[in-house]
Amino acid sequence: MTTVINQHTKQSGHRPSTTSPLAREDFGSDFKWGVATAAYQIEGAVHDDGRSDCVWDVFARKKGKIRNGDHARHACDFYHRYEQDLELVRELGFEQFRFSISWSRILPDGHGRVNQAGIDYYNRLIDRCIALGIEPWITLYHWDLPQVLEKSGGWKNRRIVEWFAEYTAVCAHAFGDRVRHWIVLNEPMAVAGLGYTTGEHAPGNKGIHNFLPVVHHLALSQAEGGRVLRRLLPEARIGNAISCSYVVPNSQSAADIRAARRADALMNRLFIEPALGLGYPKDAFPFLSNIKRFMREGDRERLKFDFDFWGLQNYFSVVVQHSYLAPVMWLKEVPATLRNVPTTGLGWEVSPMGMYEILKQFHRYQGVRELVITENGAAFKDKPQDGKVDDQERTGYYQEYLDAVKKAKNEGVNITGYFAWTLLDNFEWAHGYSARFGLVFVDFKTQERTVKESGKWFARFLKKTEK
Ligand code: BGC
Repeated sequence: MTTVINQHTKQSGHRPSTTSPLAREDFGSDFKWGVATAAYQIEGAVHDDGRSDCVWDVFARKKGKIRNGDHARHACDFYHRYEQDLELVRELGFEQFRFSISWSRILPDGHGRVNQAGIDYYNRLIDRCIALGIEPWITLYHWDLPQVLEKSGGWKNRRIVEWFAEYTAVCAHAFGDRVRHWIVLNEPMAVAGLGYTTGEHAPGNKGIHNFLPVVHHLALSQAEGGRVLRRLLPEARIGNAISCSYVVPNSQSAADIRAARRADALMNRLFIEPALGLGYPKDAFPFLSNIKRFMREGDRERLKFDFDFWGLQNYFSVVVQHSYLAPVMWLKEVPATLRNVPTTGLGWEVSPMGMYEILKQFHRYQGVRELVITENGAAFKDKPQDGKVDDQERTGYYQEYLDAVKKAKNEGVNITGYFAWTLLDNFEWAHGYSARFGLVFVDFKTQERTVKESGKWFARFLKKTEK
């Protein structure tokens, strides 16, 4: 696919125009509305019922890795409070709940011995969702690799493809009778980039030499996971969730436009194109040609899998410029905070137009059947006052982004669902508890939950009108 690097929205602060207030009905009666979570960010109970350490447990114990020395040993204590938290999902009006499985609860040794207590926990969670009329969506891998596997090289070791296939099969056997929607990997680019190259995320490995083998093993695993699910659960709807950001060059110079194409290749094309049979996007980023060193005969075929849907996770747009100071990528981002555009509490550009453009961009791939926004949301500085969290900026963010989704859908993009990120304020990886993304405020000292005004807005928006 030739990606069109857009030239007109360097300041993508401008908004799609809302002609009438947003209504649930505008998205169609079969559009899926959900809220997304991830095991490590909410569960806590890291040593309960036979769970082994994952890479994040070990990473969080090291000094200086997580803001304020935070850790996820208790997080939101969702492991023990899932029943009441699922009531909140229902109260907010969502009919789909996306959660991830902790590999270390299911296979504490990474592979081999199955921990029945781990299976039992997710069975209780799934059954509770179904009892409440909420459809469970499983993510198999949301970054919490069992530490024992990291000791054997983790995603650097090609054997991970087999380990992941085994884990996938165990989950398919255990939960496939009740779960129809499956997401294989969550944001593999973050694993390769932050986990194994810059070291900002667990397992904290640094070095560009890790990047290509890790990318390749993740790309092989996403396809292999898909194949295992399809074989064991022929009725399942199988997807993969990738991060994506609309990329804009800082100027119309040839160097900036090439830099934007490289960024686009990394941020948007790297994991979808091999699955679609297009190979890695070497055209825009020649460095990727070196990946052939890690490819074996038959890999081009092995990388392919025909996913039923692609999960897109979009938060912001990026503006990039050429830079001689950044070897390999030769580019740098122009921070949103220097561009006079609206930003969230993490300094991410609020760019509903970027959501619209990215949906259009992915829609252009011939092999993409269906798109689902599997994450979208924003962190702001929330302060409870008199039992209320008046987070108007977050509500505004959601309204504008949903308007952009609606615009893309009306123009023919086959988008069938939207998941807000996220239900509860939670362990936001290296930011610890300092970044709050929830629709529900969590007091981490008392574990008290308060539905924010944005959560109440969703409840009103999603309420079905009686016919
Ligand atoms: C991840 C989430 C994370 C969110 C906000 C996504 O990249 O999948 O786990 O909390 O973004 O940073």
